[in-house]
Parts: sequence; structure tokens; C-alpha cells
Amino acid sequence: IKEVIPIKEITNFQSRTDEFFPVAWYKKMLAENPVFFHEETNTWNVFQYDHVKQVLSNHETFSSAGNRTTIFVGTNNHKNQEKPSPINITNLDPPQHRKSRTLLAAAFTPRSLKEWEPRIRQIAAELVEDIKGNAVVDIVDALAAPFPSLVIADLFGVPVKDRYQFKSWVDILFQPFDRKRLDDIELQKKQAAQEYFQFLYPIVVQKRTNLTDDIISDLIRAEVDGDRFTDEEIVQATMVLLGAGVETTSHAIANSFYSLLYDDASLYKELRDNLELVPNAVEEMLRYRFHLSRRDRTVKQDNNLLGVDLKKGDVVIAWMSASNMDGNMFENPYSLNIHRPNNKKHLTFGNGPHFCLGAPLARMEMKIALETFLRKFPRIEPVEGFILEDCLTASATGQSLTNLPLKVYVN
Ligand code: HEM
Repeated sequence: IKEVIPIKEITNFQSRTDEFFPVAWYKKMLAENPVFFHEETNTWNVFQYDHVKQVLSNHETFSSAGNRTTIFVGTNNHKNQEKPSPINITNLDPPQHRKSRTLLAAAFTPRSLKEWEPRIRQIAAELVEDIKGNAVVDIVDALAAPFPSLVIADLFGVPVKDRYQFKSWVDILFQPFDRKRLDDIELQKKQAAQEYFQFLYPIVVQKRTNLTDDIISDLIRAEVDGDRFTDEEIVQATMVLLGAGVETTSHAIANSFYSLLYDDASLYKELRDNLELVPNAVEEMLRYRFHLSRRDRTVKQDNNLLGVDLKKGDVVIAWMSASNMDGNMFENPYSLNIHRPNNKKHLTFGNGPHFCLGAPLARMEMKIALETFLRKFPRIEPVEGFILEDCLTASATGQSLTNLPLKVYVN
């Protein structure tokens, strides 16, 4: 089990709002302290685009297999540590990483994504259908929170009646690290993991003799160098996917609506008049409104690649959402502009061998959620008296919106 680095001590934000959109901090670090050693946590922190990219992708120097991490999730209680588990994908370096990656990638082929698109559209349509026009709706509750977990439950092939149960397990399993409540959280996570396992294991066993068109069936079929997943590993793999893919995507969808309301009030109409712009808008939301995305690596050999002496064993934290604001990469980085030619270059999905396996799915979900909503409602407006600070909560990705009320108009 890895030692958890409390990143709160590094950022030292004074409010939830600060953490939700930490541009002042990024600006300061990019300008004054782009390679920053933080003594209390004994970590190096990098913010510039080229540094972040280097740290994430140069696996020969910066390893994913260190024993300290900033990420605290419910899935790293592996009993069998002798041989690398194929599920441990985020903690392996190439060449071991390749096998896990290929096995898990079996679930994310371009073909399967194409087949899933109508199912994803259907789920979005049902959620948007339930939103009443000419009224106030909480878009987190109505769309951003349920959509990604319903999608992944559908793609796993979980029975419809059990899908809301998924969200509650995910919520517990991926609670963020909090030093004061460490034991308490551990206990809750353990229990949720057990319940989840008991629920999903029989589904996997049953699917083995009954392969269909879903992620669990794809994982059963997957084979690399004669290796396949065991039933137990498949359950663990689904947990990895839940952890990586649900909260992140919810967060991205909620933030996109926040942006449409508060960053640029003319953008909604522009998108509605031209739905072809939605994919651009999705990329710009990922660049501009996804915080605080960061990953850590451990230095494998002494080097000077970041302009300072890094020693074997040092931990380097790569702040991707800060690198998305690097003026050397993005012109006028602190403004939202869906027409920037290079907005797809953001590092929100990482870079290199660990580049997000679910990026095509996440992009598709964001696009479909926005398109479906835009088609139904010609106009949205903020509600008076909305106080951002009261509508945020700590999550693994930073601060996420607990509610986002908005007025929706059908004409
Ligand atoms: C890896 C971000 C959605 C599955 C990653 C990494 C990032 C990331 C930054 C790289 C980690 C590293 O370099 O160590 C995001 C964001 C998402 C999202 C911002 C939504 C907006 C998803 C979805 C899935 C998914 C929907 C699947 C259901 C994975 C997996 C990995 C990964 C399996 C591990 C890949 C590897 O280590 O080789 N994600 N992700 N992600 N993501 Fe995502």
C-alpha cells in the first residue's frame, strides 16, 4: 500500500472556490516557481506544459511504480503482491504495463465505442426528457451526476434496477484523502468494496457462458500472450474503470454547464446554432474548466531534465491543469475560447504510455450530454443568489459541484 501525499499542504487554498478554479495559484507558480520543491511533503512540483508532458511520458526516468502517491482510491488493497497484477495498470511501467494496458484496452476499441453510441444517446435522452422546461433544474442532480454511472453500468451489462446502487458504491470508494478521517474512510471503503464484489462476481461468472456486447464480455474475451483475466480480476478491473471514469466525467460535465452559465453567456446560443462546434467546446472545457488534475511519478535515476538535480526516489507531481494554462502553449490561456486551433492539446487526459484509456468514451459522453441538452432547450440562465462556495465539495479530482441550479427555457 502506497503512502499518500497530502496535496492540500502543497496548495494551501483558502476556500473551496479557490480550489475549484485555482488560476491565481497556477499563474503564480508558472511565473515564479515553475519547478517547485515543497519541503513538508518532500515533493517536486512542475507546472509548465513541456515539463508536465516530460514527467508523464518519459517512463524511463519518471516511474509510475513508486511507493508514494497523491491519489487515494479504494482499489489498492491487492493481496497478491508477488507478481504484478494486470489490474494494477496505473502503477506499472513499460514493458509490464503493456500487457495490462492491452487487456483493458479490449473494452475500448473504436468499434465498441461506435456500437455503444446509440445506448449512450438513449440514456442521455431519458435524463434530459425528465427535465422540465421553464423551470429551475439542478443540472448536477439531473444529468452530470447520474449520467456517467448509468452509462458505465449499462456498458458493464448490469441490470437496470441495480444501476443507482452503482453510484453509491462509487461515491464511497472514491472519497478523497482526509488525514483526520483516515480510519473511518478506510472502513467505509472496505465495506463498499466487499458489497460491490459480492454483487458483480456472480454477474461475471454468468457472463462467461453467455458472452454479449458489453465491457465485461470484452474483458472475458481479452487475451494477451496467452494470458486472460480471471473472474476476480475482471471485478477488480471494473472497479478501476469506475474509479477512473465516473467521477471524472461527472465533474467535467457539471463544470461545462458552469462555464456556459458563468464564463461566456453567449456560448450557449452559439453552440445551439451550430452543434458541430460541440466537440471543440468539449476540448476547451477540458482544458479550461477541469481542475485540479495532477499525477505523480517517482524518479528512477538521477537526472537534470527539469533543470534541477533530481535524485533517484524523488517524487515529482505533474500539475496538468496548470500546464493547460501555460502561455507558451496556449495563447491567452486564461480565457475560454472554443475556437483555439490547438485546444485538443490539453494534458487533462495525461500523455504517453498511460494516456487515459477512457478518453474517447469521456469525450463522447460529454458531447452527447451537451448536444442532447442543447437540442431540447433554446436558452439557459443562471439563478439569482447562487453562491459557488456553498455548492462545492472535496472530491478526488479537486472541488466538484454538488448542485448547479439553472433556469431552462423551452422557447
Ligand atoms: C488514465 C483522466 C475518463 C479510464 C487517466 C489519466 C488521466 C485520466 C490524466 C492518466 C494517468 C497517468 O498518467 O498516470 C481522465 C479524465 C476523464 C477520464 C479527465 C474524464 C473527463 C475516463 C473514463 C475511463 C477512464 C470514462 C473509462 C471508463 C482510465 C484508465 C486509465 C486512465 C483505465 C489508466 C491508463 C493507464 O494507466 O495506462 N485518465 N479520465 N478514464 N483512465 Fe481516464
